[in-house]
Amino acid sequence: MNSSDSPRNRHRAARSGRTRALQLLGVVAVTALAVVMARRGEPLGAQDAAPTYAKDVAPILYKNCTTCHRPGGLGPFSLLNYDTAKKNVDDIRDAVKTGFMPPWHAEGPHGTFLNDRRLSDVEKQTILRWIDAGAKKGNLKALPMAPVYPTSWEIGEPDAIVKMPDDFTVPAKGTVEYQYFEIPTNFTEDKWVQAIEFMPGAREVVHHVLVYAKVPPSANASLTVAPVPRAAGAPAPRPLFVRKPQFDSPEDPPRLDSLHPPPRQLGTLIGGTAPGTNVMKFPTGTALRLRAGTVLTFQMHYTARGHEMHDRTAVGFRFATAAPDEEIRMSAFINGAFTLPAGEKDVAVASELEPTEAIRIWGLLPHTHLRGTRWKYTLEKPDGTSDVILDVPRYDFNWQTYYFFATPLELPAGSKLKSMAWYDNSASNKNNPDATKDVKWGDQTWEEMQYTGFLYSVNSRRLKPSTK
Ligand code: HEC
Repeated sequence: MNSSDSPRNRHRAARSGRTRALQLLGVVAVTALAVVMARRGEPLGAQDAAPTYAKDVAPILYKNCTTCHRPGGLGPFSLLNYDTAKKNVDDIRDAVKTGFMPPWHAEGPHGTFLNDRRLSDVEKQTILRWIDAGAKKGNLKALPMAPVYPTSWEIGEPDAIVKMPDDFTVPAKGTVEYQYFEIPTNFTEDKWVQAIEFMPGAREVVHHVLVYAKVPPSANASLTVAPVPRAAGAPAPRPLFVRKPQFDSPEDPPRLDSLHPPPRQLGTLIGGTAPGTNVMKFPTGTALRLRAGTVLTFQMHYTARGHEMHDRTAVGFRFATAAPDEEIRMSAFINGAFTLPAGEKDVAVASELEPTEAIRIWGLLPHTHLRGTRWKYTLEKPDGTSDVILDVPRYDFNWQTYYFFATPLELPAGSKLKSMAWYDNSASNKNNPDATKDVKWGDQTWEEMQYTGFLYSVNSRRLKPSTK
């Protein structure tokens, strides 16, 4: 499958097809009417009462669309009321039919993913039948209560907000290197994070944000427990993951500007956003720990968009009141040592993750830039079994999705999680910034990445005994 098969492209094709269809419509309308009338004789079932907005469709839109399609949301129009829904029915029909909306790019049966956005077949058919039957309003008495979004934060009012101290000015053009901002949280106790949301100040130019957390040695002087010295001859603790030097990325090139350079130490990655993903909610029973005294570093990737803009991005946290069963940790595995030859249409790049003790994986984030077309992850266990655990045949750079598993993946020590990403560096890839260049690993969107973020817990470090 190539990128021209993506729901986005099918959706676009459907839309231009519709324009043609409309031109033809005048001609066929009379014939169509005759067909409708002839169908009246069909057996029961084919003529179930047409769905109405109030009774059948609003509940689906409320549940599946309005987190984004609401005033202040990511979507281009609100789906919280009949009038705007009705106004956009043609686009809704195409977007729902082709799977362009709700945005979701992985295969797998319903029930595989915790955060699956896909509509069920019944929901899809209900929307399409409603539109085909004239998108009737129906009896407004049947209309359920619209969801209320009291703040612009999708996670609800945050328990803590950490914001860049000053505006950063994004120039109208040119390359902006990653900018780093260190911001103290001033937390006086450990916090268990259940949800994180990113609130870009100037969404248009914020290409991505990664947030790292560290505790400077001085911050917790009174709390610090002196490390227990290792007994003579005892083996050094094993790293949790086998090092794979063959996948190392090249050294960063020297920085061009001296503004906001990276700090000496970034700490642990705790969250990130890119177009389309501003919220991270951890599965029930898990939470991410932020230590007292944590200092956050925002790594900001800005993209110049033709006019100067000012950004001050914030991150909001929701905390749990008690420690979870399992502490969730965040990391990434990459292949930074590849070349995508100029003009090459289908280049596969592999990487792998190998834990040295049993871990549980809660979610995976496949990430490439504009040339990436699809991803596949296979889990090989020491017993010789092998399963495809995530298949993303329609990778879309505009939607950076963390795929959360409904049942976390168990990786015994010695398992291998193998990733494969495919790239189209030819001119037939409409998103390709330049098909005449060999492309290697790099930060900027015209360079490439083979990067997988993952959320995991370590079985031997469960906080509460398993009830299973
Ligand atoms: C996670 C956020 C999100 C959800 C959920 C979502 N949308 Fe969207 N929608 C967007 C964004 C962002 C765009 C603009 C995308 C673009 O132009 O590439 C969009 C665009 C659209 C469009 C316009 C497509 C076009 O023609 O350009 C339609 C129609 C649409 N959405 C319908 C829906 C419907 C119906 C649902 C629910 C069944 C839904 N969306 C769920 C975020 C969302």
